[in-house]
Amino acid sequence: MNAAGTLLVCLAVAALALVVYPAQNETRPGYVGDEKCLSCHPKQKEFPRTAHHLTSRIATRESIAGSFAPGKNVLKTPEPELQYRMEARGDGLFQTGVLGIAPHTVSISHRFDLVVGSGRKGQTYLYWGRAVDGGEADRLFQLPVSYWTEIAGWVNSPGYGDRVVDFSRPVLARCIECHGTYAETIDDPNAANRYRKANLVLGVTCERCHGPGAQHSSVNAVPNAKPADQLIVNPAKLPRNRQLDLCSLCHGGIGVAKTPVFSFKVGDALADHLQLASPAANDPLDVHGNQVALLERSKCFKSSNMTCSTCHDVHTPQRDVVDFSARCLTCHKVESCGLFPRRGRSLLGKCVDCHLPNQTSNVIFSTHAGTRIRPKVRNHWIKVYPAGSR
Ligand code: HEC
Ligand code: HEC
Ligand code: HEC
Ligand code: HEC
Ligand code: HEC
Ligand code: HEC
Ligand code: HEC
Repeated sequence: MNAAGTLLVCLAVAALALVVYPAQNETRPGYVGDEKCLSCHPKQKEFPRTAHHLTSRIATRESIAGSFAPGKNVLKTPEPELQYRMEARGDGLFQTGVLGIAPHTVSISHRFDLVVGSGRKGQTYLYWGRAVDGGEADRLFQLPVSYWTEIAGWVNSPGYGDRVVDFSRPVLARCIECHGTYAETIDDPNAANRYRKANLVLGVTCERCHGPGAQHSSVNAVPNAKPADQLIVNPAKLPRNRQLDLCSLCHGGIGVAKTPVFSFKVGDALADHLQLASPAANDPLDVHGNQVALLERSKCFKSSNMTCSTCHDVHTPQRDVVDFSARCLTCHKVESCGLFPRRGRSLLGKCVDCHLPNQTSNVIFSTHAGTRIRPKVRNHWIKVYPAGSR
């Protein structure tokens, strides 16, 4: 699953969406939701702008990156008689597949209910559907049209063909385990994509990484409280492996579940919940979707106590590679670079460009106008790369 990468599966596992989603939910006692945490933790106030927070949301004109403007709201397919239209109507936002030539057309429409993806690379959309014979609209499906940021346009959702009108791809819980905080599945031997809508918690929230915070919030609510036990997990205080396990849940590949989805809690050993592929030292790894395994191959990682937090502060948006290069200098000197004798201090601020290059993944997200669309991702294997590969 490493080589196949996360995004594709992302888009290949597919399925979730229409009600009021609570920030916390009543069937999970002990959780309080981000607003409560932020009321006492102003240092983390930028968190709502991060990709983690934004990775799953209710679909609105604002959260959907693609355009509904006439002329920009159509996705043509290689099949001349098949196209998709993105429509903003009085009763909501819809994707409509139209087959045939007017006036002899048939069409199917489903609502944009949920957005998955902050939009850094792209977004895909989900809708709440029913069984063929009716019932509650509690099944989550992926819509056939996604959005790709690099071309600023609509594309075919990964894994959907472009020859027939198709809205049938179910979204499984592992998808939400990585792109959200919680979903409660409804047991059904005939459908793996049924959820209790009212209990869906969207976005990766504070408590996804820190565990439930109700007790912690109440012990600190008392004026001048100095509790001996904060009753909340600070990952920095966990052993290194357990810190990495938290990130690996979502940045280590899809894996094979050993326990029901959403069983993993921060502090647990991930291997008790999920079997991740363990590639041999020389097996190729795709740059996409497995930052953990790549980092683990680095000399920096093997010869130090490095964790993801050595470079990332997940509480704030961070994209400036000059800032990241400064992190290298906590352990290295610019003089330690083999190029220093020739390039001198001009290397400063550029460490990441050469040693953690942005590379094209082998994972194909979609095909657009005959061109294969692949994500570009930072290769987390820190090492010396031949000039041509960066
Ligand atoms: C194992 C965890 C995992 C699973 C399962 C998973 N994803 Fe992802 N997905 C990620 C991670 C991590 C990223 C971004 C980092 C990267 O590209 O390596 C991502 C990226 C994406 C993006 C691009 C986001 C952006 O703005 O750039 C989309 C869209 C997406 N996933 C949709 C889905 C959908 C839909 C599903 C389920 C049908 C799914 N993913 C399943 C972890 C996962
Ligand atoms: C009523 C105020 C209050 C609320 C609500 C609150 N905290 Fe805290 N939190 C504190 C105080 C006070 C401390 C101790 C001083 C500090 O580290 O800032 C603390 C400490 C922490 C720590 C460090 C604990 C350690 O052992 O190092 C974490 C992590 C944390 N809070 C996360 C959260 C999360 C997540 C939420 C929401 C679920 C939350 N807090 C809600 C007041 C609050
Ligand atoms: C519950 C799943 C989950 C966990 C746990 C998780 N991540 Fe993520 N992370 C994601 C997903 C999904 C994305 C892609 C979001 C998007 O762009 O839609 C992401 C994106 C990121 C990004 C890119 C941010 C950006 O600006 O584009 C970084 C960096 C990151 N994660 C680091 C971490 C670290 C470090 C940890 C462990 C402390 C961690 N993540 C834990 C799911 C998770
Ligand atoms: C993707 C996982 C993730 C999410 C989401 C997350 N945190 Fe953290 N948090 C961490 C990690 C990892 C650390 C330890 C960082 C380190 O090693 O220094 C941490 C440390 C902290 C600390 C203690 C360190 C400090 O700076 O005071 C507080 C408080 C905290 N987080 C609060 C929050 C709040 C509030 C939110 C939501 C607004 C939140 N966190 C969301 C992973 C996360
Ligand atoms: C936590 C400390 C730490 C940080 C941060 C760190 N490194 Fe390292 N790095 C090391 C150690 C230790 C070694 C091994 C040195 C040795 O074996 O002589 C190393 C080795 C390397 C090597 C040689 C790799 C090889 O395969 O021969 C390169 C290149 C490198 N680091 C670049 C970087 C860059 C660029 C950054 C910032 C993105 C960085 N390092 C951040 C500790 C660190
Ligand atoms: C030595 C520094 C360093 C360490 C350690 C590190 N990263 Fe990164 N990471 C970076 C840099 C630099 C970028 C590029 C910044 C950007 O564009 O968002 C990045 C980007 C990312 C992204 C966005 C990927 C993309 O290109 O879309 C994710 C996800 C991520 N890191 C996850 C992790 C996880 C998980 C860990 C721990 C296993 C980790 N990182 C450890 C430096 C680091
Ligand atoms: C223009 C690309 C480039 C930039 C920018 C760059 N490096 Fe390098 N680095 C290299 C190359 C190429 C080598 C191998 C040189 C050699 O073997 O002669 C290297 C070697 C290294 C080594 C390994 C030295 C050894 O002998 O094992 C370290 C450590 C290192 N660089 C750190 C850094 C740091 C820290 C920065 C930022 C201050 C940086 N590099 C910026 C290209 C770069």
